[in-house]
Amino acid sequence: MRIDILTLFPQMMSMFFEESIIMRAQKKGLVEVHFHNLHDYSLTRYGSVDDYPYGGNAGMVMAVEPLANCIEALQNERSYDEVIYTAPDGNLFSQGMANELSMKGNMIILCGHYKGIDERIREHFITREISIGDYVLTGGELAAAVMCDAVIRLIPGVIGDEQSALSDSFQDGLLAPPEYTRPAEFRGWRVPDVLLSGNHAKIEQWRYEQALERTRLRRPDLLDNNGQ
Ligand code: ADE
Repeated sequence: MRIDILTLFPQMMSMFFEESIIMRAQKKGLVEVHFHNLHDYSLTRYGSVDDYPYGGNAGMVMAVEPLANCIEALQNERSYDEVIYTAPDGNLFSQGMANELSMKGNMIILCGHYKGIDERIREHFITREISIGDYVLTGGELAAAVMCDAVIRLIPGVIGDEQSALSDSFQDGLLAPPEYTRPAEFRGWRVPDVLLSGNHAKIEQWRYEQALERTRLRRPDLLDNNGQ
């Protein structure tokens, strides 16, 4: 997979991609992440990329030319499966969307700023608009990082134990059950006996019931959505 991130703050982004599992995924050649500074595509001497909105609204809008130039420069090099725009009015990001994106080849992610981008970019270049939640961030960089993290860890080979990605919260429409590790007793607080029983069928059943109960208590909306 190749991800090209278009941003006004490439340094802010690159720090995140130079750590831990995401770094290892790149070293293993499972994903390539490239940053493009939108100021480099500015038409002005000062590198500005925004302008006042037509119609006299508050705030600034990212201008059409630098964005179109940057996206087209990339599209001239290779074809892209998705050109994603991070915005609070996009479709809500989910585990299902992360699964879908983890199977893509090349993706562009455009990080929005200010009052957003000129609508013509959305109409003519963007294939998906994604929000990471119902709140407004100062820019799309953190949203892009969140999405990349959720997507990259699903690429086969990125996480050592494949099972562990499959048993995440949300993968089966339920929150994950509680987990315990040694010691079996700490300050009198005991690990549930069933987990020490060695009976795998019983353990699976317990995990499923716990996951169901936890989902019922904390996120009943998830049960409504898939009819469990
Ligand atoms: N940019 C600003 N707020 C955002 C959000 N909630 N999701 C994605 N991009 C954003």
